[in-house]
This record gives sequence, C-alpha cells and structure tokens, in this order.
Amino acid sequence: MVEFILNGEAVRVEGEPPTRTLLDWLRERRGLTGTKEGCNEGDCGACTVMVTDTAGHRALNACILFLPQLEGKAVRTVEGIAAPDGTLHPVQSAMIDLHGSQCGFCTPGFVVSMATAHANGARDFNDQLAGNLCRCTGYAPIVRAAEAAANEPVPGWIAADRAAATAGGTTAGEGWFRPGSADELAAWYLENPEATLVAGATDVGLWVTKAFRALGPVAFLNGATDLAGITVTDDEIRVGATTTVTDFLTAMSEHHPSFAEVIRRYGSTQVRNAATVGGNIANGSPIGDSPPVLIALGATLHLRKGDARRSLPLEAFFLAYGTQDRAPGEFVEAITIPRQPDNLRCYKISKRFEQDISALCGAFNIRVEHGAVASARIAFGGMAATPKRATATEAALIGQPWTETTVANARAALAQDYAPISDMRASAAYRLEAAQNLLSRVWFDSHGADVSTLEVMP
Ligand SMILES: Cc1cc2nc3c(=O)[nH]c(=O)nc-3n(C[C@H](O)[C@H](O)[C@H](O)COP(=O)(O)OP(=O)(O)OC[C@H]3O[C@@H](n4cnc5c(N)ncnc54)[C@H](O)[C@@H]3O)c2cc1C
Ligand code: FES
Ligand code: FES
Repeated sequence: MVEFILNGEAVRVEGEPPTRTLLDWLRERRGLTGTKEGCNEGDCGACTVMVTDTAGHRALNACILFLPQLEGKAVRTVEGIAAPDGTLHPVQSAMIDLHGSQCGFCTPGFVVSMATAHANGARDFNDQLAGNLCRCTGYAPIVRAAEAAANEPVPGWIAADRAAATAGGTTAGEGWFRPGSADELAAWYLENPEATLVAGATDVGLWVTKAFRALGPVAFLNGATDLAGITVTDDEIRVGATTTVTDFLTAMSEHHPSFAEVIRRYGSTQVRNAATVGGNIANGSPIGDSPPVLIALGATLHLRKGDARRSLPLEAFFLAYGTQDRAPGEFVEAITIPRQPDNLRCYKISKRFEQDISALCGAFNIRVEHGAVASARIAFGGMAATPKRATATEAALIGQPWTETTVANARAALAQDYAPISDMRASAAYRLEAAQNLLSRVWFDSHGADVSTLEVMP
C-alpha cells in the first residue's frame, strides 16, 4: 500500500505492481490526462509533475517514477496547479498573456516545471526548463512568461503541500519493500540478494518502460533517509548513496566548481532531481558523468553487506564492462572525497549542451608547484569499457615543467592509456583526438584562456 497526497487530497494505492509508473497510474486509473506521455524515458518533460516532501518542491518526470517512491509525498499534476476554485497560477496567466503555447502538447509539463521553479524562487530558467522540450512555440516566450511570474507570491495551495507531506516510514507491498533505514535495507537485501534496488529510477525506470523487463523483488531506497545527505569535515566530503545529483551539484559548486559545471549538464533538472550519486556509480556505466571525476578526486567507495562494511578506491570498483566489485546482497552506502585544494578541471563532450549522455568526459586533477607538475590524477569516461584512469598520461606529466611541450608529450601518452571504440555517440578516432584536445584545454584553462562553450560563444 502506498499513501500520498494528490492535488491536495490524500490517496491510498493498493493492488498495483511496484513498477506501475506514476504517469500510467495518473492517466489510466485517475483520468488525469493533462500529464502527457511524450518519450516515456525521461527525455522530454511532457510528463513533469511537482513532488513535494519535507525537504521542498521538485520537478520530476512521472514516466520513470514508480508509485512506491511517492510514499508520504505530495504530488501536483497540471490539473492541480490552478486553485481549486479555478484561479490560475501566476505562471499559467503569464503563459497566456505572453503567448507561451502553440500546439500545447508540451505546455502542461512546462507549466508544472515553471510552477516548481516559482515555488523554489529559482531564476535560472534556461537550466530549469532544459528538460522540457518544445517544438512549436520556441523558448523565448516561455522564458519570458517564467520571468514575468517570478515576483508573484507563491500561491497558498502550492505552499500547503510542504506541510502536508510526511517523511514516510517503512512500507511494503506484494513483491516490494521500502526500508526506513540503511539497517533495514542491509538486513532485507541479505535475505533477498537477487532483488533490484531502485534509488532514483532514472536507469531502472527505462528497464521497465523501454525494455519491458520484469524486475522480481524490488527495494526502494528513498525511504532510508540515513542513506542520503552530504557531510563535510576537515578531512573529507561524505556523500550518502541516495543523495540526489541536484544536492550534489549544490555541494560541488562550493568545493569543486568545475565538477558542478559538468553536473549542470547532467540530464535535466527533472533527471538530476531524481538520479542519485550512488546509482550513477552502481550502474557501472562507462559513460556516467560522476565516476571519472570522482576517480580524479581520489574518492573512496563504501559498500555494505549486512553488518559488514568495506571501502575501496572508486577506480577498483569497475572491473570490466558490466562487472563491478559488488557481491550479491551488497550495496553502495556512501562515497567520500578527500578534502583538497581545488585543482580540478573536468569537461563533458556531448552533442547537445544539456540533456545528453557524454561521448566522453575528462577529469584532470593536476597540481602545479613552482612551475612543475607535482601530482596528477586523470580519468576519463567514454574512452574504455569502464571509467578509467590515464596512468601513462599521469606519468608523462608528473615532475615535468607545466609547459606546452610537456602537454604535447602527454597527449601522445593518452594513446597508450586508451583504445576507445566507435559507437553512435562518437568514432574511436574522434574520441582519442577530443581527449587529447581536452588535455590541451586544461593547459589553456590554467593560463586563464576562455575554454567553455559558453565563454567562447559570440
Ligand atoms: C533522460 C536521462 C538523462 C540522463 N543523463 C545523464 C547524464 O547526463 N549523465 C549521466 O551520468 N547519467 C545520465 N543518465 C543516467 C542516470 O541518470 C544515471 O545513471 C543515474 O545516476 C542513475 O541513478 P538512479 O538513482 O536514478 O539509479 P537507479 O535507476 O535507481 O539505479 C541504477 C542502478 O544502480 C543500482 N543501485 C542504485 N542505488 C544503489 C545502491 N545504493 N547500491 C547498489 N546499487 C544501487 C540499481 O539497482 C540499478 O542497477 C540519464 C538518464 C536519463 C533517463
Ligand atoms: S514522457 Fe518524456 S520525460 Fe516523461
Ligand atoms: S507548443 Fe507545441 S511542442 Fe511546445
């Protein structure tokens, strides 16, 4: 059984499979067809809903959100954005006044994203709306509408959701479990090692909506609140496994701004609001954006099985394509990043600026002292079957003067470190040359040149 609040009214859901998506349930069981299905894979934002809990309001894609993830939360669909008496929300009035809609298929998703940004006081509308695709109107009138509504007060019916939401404790149903703590998860997973863990469901959601895979027993991690959150001490930054990519972005803006820039281009607002740091590591993808950067920062992964815990350097976790050093019943509990002066530069190369998976992602943690390279940790995603360190390149740099000649030698060493493959995102030759160019980019970046696409745009 799952209980949450839908457009201001308590609902109780029983008898649904744990992998019923919120989108399907809204449209097929509740007749709330304002929430649209575009891609059914988190890419278009037509299905955006506002989900509020005790931490605040988030825009999420309903197409890759499973019902048990909603326990205790308040959900608002486009039908609940206006007041119960029909008074329009300020973003709705602004969309009408400023001609923000033509065919209208995208409009419900935009309105919900805009209302969520409005409730959060966000003003970075290009980022807030990057996960909503519009093919007819174009973004200028929509962004104008968001700007026009920004100074209006948050309507009471939206603000009320936060007080109505609860933390939601341990819950379960037929074939699924939502533990209320890491201890409960550890005990249950030991008994059910074949189960699928679901954190943000931005990968697992697609296994269901696109691959039609049956998942078997499922554990939803978002009730285990002690698995989330970031703690900063003098020695380390500890990131709980279920910390969302959005919260991680905020922390990295302070400690490693170059990492934050990469994360800003990770999926979209809706995807970052759901996806977790632990999920981005545990899925073992060779093109996940955070693992190469975390490896360059010297991060340590913390795993737990029952009451037994072990830690390993993150790079040691990725054994081969699709294989990680994780035993049945073992899960990612946290990742720690050692505190260090910020020497990090990382760059994501993808065909689109936002909402695109990397062709490659390079991370360079190079410390220069007295004009020479004192230390270097370099890692790439998209260049091998796993996120992988560039040890030959590091060796070509360490102890050498930080000059263009050294960089030219190290560019050649990258060809020893990696033999990338060709796929739909990039050819092998492109990948190698782009990786080498990223090394040059670090050098130019460290000498104050404008290197970001946004900086060099006219
Ligand atoms: C539209 C879209 C855009 C995307 N863009 C990007 C992008 O730009 N960059 C990028 O890197 N990724 C991107 N992704 C991929 C995805 O967001 C990430 O891989 C994400 O971090 C997965 O986290 P999650 O919490 O959603 O994982 P889930 O889907 O919940 O789980 C993923 C895998 O990890 C396992 N798992 C989750 N948590 C744990 C844990 N604590 N311990 C053990 N196993 C666990 C699950 O069992 C599953 O095998 C995108 C996805 C979508 C749908
Ligand atoms: S339908 Fe496209 S993001 Fe959900
Ligand atoms: S108005 Fe048609 S897709 Fe946006």
